[in-house]
Amino acid sequence: MYTNQIYQKSLKDLNTFSIDITAKKIIFVQTIKSLIDIYKKCNSSHVPYIILGEGSNVLFLENYKGIVIINRIKGIRIKEKNNAWLLHILSGEKWSDLVKYTLKMGFFGLENLALIPGCIGSAAIQNIGAYGLEFKNICQYVDLISLKDEKIIRITKNLCKFSYRDSIFKHKYQEGYAVIAVGIKILKKWNPIFLKPLFKKINIIKISPYEIYRSICQIRKEKLPNLNKYGNAGSFFKNPIISQKDAKRIFSFNTNIPYYLQVDGSIKISAAWLIEKYNFKNVHIGDAAIYKKQKLILINRKKANPKEILKLAQIIQKSILKKFKIYLEPEIDFINSSGKIKLLKKI
Ligand code: FAD
Ligand code: EPU
Repeated sequence: MYTNQIYQKSLKDLNTFSIDITAKKIIFVQTIKSLIDIYKKCNSSHVPYIILGEGSNVLFLENYKGIVIINRIKGIRIKEKNNAWLLHILSGEKWSDLVKYTLKMGFFGLENLALIPGCIGSAAIQNIGAYGLEFKNICQYVDLISLKDEKIIRITKNLCKFSYRDSIFKHKYQEGYAVIAVGIKILKKWNPIFLKPLFKKINIIKISPYEIYRSICQIRKEKLPNLNKYGNAGSFFKNPIISQKDAKRIFSFNTNIPYYLQVDGSIKISAAWLIEKYNFKNVHIGDAAIYKKQKLILINRKKANPKEILKLAQIIQKSILKKFKIYLEPEIDFINSSGKIKLLKKI
């Protein structure tokens, strides 16, 4: 009931890297009850499981011997307050659909996060961000279910431990928990976030949420690979956050590296720039390659296998470490035959 099961089918269309691997079973779930039922069956038969949204932040390394649960639990509830709109959104809704929907409703504030692939649940786990806005800036709470005892736990935003592409849901609440809903608050008073890359695209007189949305969609379409052409998972690595001492060393031999000062005094620098400066000459392993217009993105040109993508990532990581003494931490999750694993760790 409420589920759609596929046996031994390829996951190719369910991960944006377009990696052609299989799972023992793929199950689409539309209700929390079916999610719990599947978890219980997996638990009692000792079969591994993994929950996916759109598979846009994962790299499957080999055939998965367990059950892939595709979250399609959908629904949106809206409450109006004097100064804000409160939205309760179930975790299988698509993030980019939500951005479009809020604009249509006249709720402004999500436009900077236009066109980011993935589901609402993953947006919270990952604390997605782009063009000056992060999920944490609009989050009110995240609802989790403890699959073992079916208890729903509400984690208010201050306890979510959001940081750059990170949250408590990647640490404490991994095994045995699922994100089922999020609460966000959109203020009625619109505060545009108007950053440098947008200056060239928008006339300040014309500025509106729709204009920001339109120009961010345009920038992203120009800069990021079209998923129908090249498989990828967005930025493969995070931008490194380094100490002032390391930053001084880097700036001493190159002053035009893009950087962003953090509240604690540390400095986030552009990983794409480091990769660009290393000047990898047409490096590719089989069909795994660096995307020319955005060097932080690794692409599957056609039939790359995951080992080739991993090998390329290792070459980049080692080269950047050797030349700049900076460690690039992967942003994506790696999944082997039985579950998530940590790879390309700092040695
Ligand atoms: P998935 O890849 O399906 O899952 C990611 C992880 O979350 C997995 O470990 C999975 O097991 C876990 N998970 C998923 N759902 C649940 C759940 N309900 N409960 C528990 N665990 C769960 N990211 C940005 O931040 N900014 C960007 O600008 C950006 N641009 C991108 C552009 C492209 C072209 C691509 C391909 C990716 C981009 N990303 C970006 C990365 C990606 O879109 C985000 O990380 C997104 O939130 C992943 O969503 P997903 O549903 O596809 O997650
Ligand atoms: N740059 C280069 N070479 C390149 C690309 C960029 O030198 O090939 C330099 C340019 O100077 C550019 C600067 O790096 O101005 C920043 O580039 P960009 O605006 O593309 O942003 P980014 O830091 O590479 C981050 C996020 C993206 C997000 C954009 C926009 C990370 C790891 N990535 O990329 O998120 O869309 O900012 O805000 O933080 C993702 O997480 O998957 C993702 C795509």
